[in-house]
Amino acid sequence: MGKNLALNLADHGYRVAGFDLDKDKVQDVLATEAKERPDSVDEARIIGCDNIKQMLDMLVSPRVIVVLVPAGDPVDAVCQNLIEAGLNPEDIVVDCGNSQWTDTIRRESQYKDQFKFFGTAVSGGEVGARFGPSLMPGGDADSWKYLQPMWEAVAAKVDANGKPIETRTPGQPVKEGEPCTAYLGPNGAGHYVKMVHNGIEYADMQLICEAYHLLRSLLGYEPAEIGKLFEKWNQGVLNSYLVEISADILQQYDAKTGAPLVDMILDSAGQKGTGRWTSISATQMGVPAGIISESVYARALSTLTAEREKASSFLTADIDFSEIDADAVVQAIENALYCAKICAYAQGFQLMRAAQAEYNWELNFIGIAKIWRGGCIIRASFLQKIADAFEKNHELENLLLDDYFANAMAEKQKGLRDAVVLAAQSGIPTPSFYSALAYFDGYRSEVLPANLLQAQRDYFGAHTYERIDAEPGEKFHTHWQEEGRPETKVK
Ligand code: 6PG
Repeated sequence: MGKNLALNLADHGYRVAGFDLDKDKVQDVLATEAKERPDSVDEARIIGCDNIKQMLDMLVSPRVIVVLVPAGDPVDAVCQNLIEAGLNPEDIVVDCGNSQWTDTIRRESQYKDQFKFFGTAVSGGEVGARFGPSLMPGGDADSWKYLQPMWEAVAAKVDANGKPIETRTPGQPVKEGEPCTAYLGPNGAGHYVKMVHNGIEYADMQLICEAYHLLRSLLGYEPAEIGKLFEKWNQGVLNSYLVEISADILQQYDAKTGAPLVDMILDSAGQKGTGRWTSISATQMGVPAGIISESVYARALSTLTAEREKASSFLTADIDFSEIDADAVVQAIENALYCAKICAYAQGFQLMRAAQAEYNWELNFIGIAKIWRGGCIIRASFLQKIADAFEKNHELENLLLDDYFANAMAEKQKGLRDAVVLAAQSGIPTPSFYSALAYFDGYRSEVLPANLLQAQRDYFGAHTYERIDAEPGEKFHTHWQEEGRPETKVK
């Protein structure tokens, strides 16, 4: 990532001095630069340094130091090294890792006397870093003014219709178009938004996997057939980078065995933690983000490989599998994927709304949707619709309350219901589809059984309840064990 961002900066006319504890990595950047731009090596666009002090001495003030190290303690270790090497209070240290937003808030205040700590979360993987990532900056507004031209230059670009302008040619960066970066707010705002991006990414990926699992298990489709189908879906409302790469993956064969490559990959998913943080943050703030949480749990369940193997011969499913019409099932799954995706994004944006109140940020939801249209892992044409929804109503509480998305759910929800029924009847686990449908039905319900729940809480713990015929906030308690069950108003 560091190497590619350095090459990207150089492509846009910035001179970069780089340092890595691993000297080979520095040499690798220089070798790539020499190979990609043999005619311009004399320009020394990228200079490899032997130590941090040498690197700092090469920079003009205020110095911008872009840090790309794993999140957590390594970021603080780098900050300490930079302080020891002589940083000044006007210098700007930009953390481009997947840092936890609370760490970014803490670091900004901890290091304020020594330098300005600024967060910029980066999405798009290695290719994104090289040719245009989505950048989610958060920190003090003065530092942003200084960083803005640089980040706007290297970020991915989209055209007037919101479509990514792709490039893969070193030395010929995209200069026109709208950059996929925008100032998101002070301290941890950028890293928080990136964390939610990743929570949505987990949901998006899991939903695609569930669609694949249904197509394979219900209809017996081969991976390559599903890949072809995904290619078709990618031409419509589901158009996205994740559907595109899934289509490609499913059409690959293992060089060693000739089997579909996906079949040779162990079904045990890893995770670095950002999806889990999103789920924890939603739980802490009481925001319903069940699809994101289910996607985290699905990865966790997948890792119980040995237990699942044992359980597969021990636990039986009482399956009611009736005749199905393949074309109708394919259509239902496509619609299910779209509806569940809408619900997952609704949860992610609802979570960010809660976070802005919690942390006193003013998140620009139009801007967030726009900077996710290109460069990042969840880039999708769908994000233009989300930007449009917030353009129409800046105070939109939930994407499901926007006409476009409400109509899409009205038109396509039968697919989600059918997919969930088929999955349940045939014993195929699709937790995120289930969760999406439950969220949709819960959100559109004027009445939920939480009245009984409140009564239960009051019964065993005198936790009180509100009455529908009293003023909001007035609390009541029924003396459930006493004769006549008297009710008292609680002060
Ligand atoms: C991105 C990705 C990137 C990375 C995540 C996912 O936006 O470029 O989200 O940040 O792939 O760390 O990691 P896990 O799936 O391992 O949690």
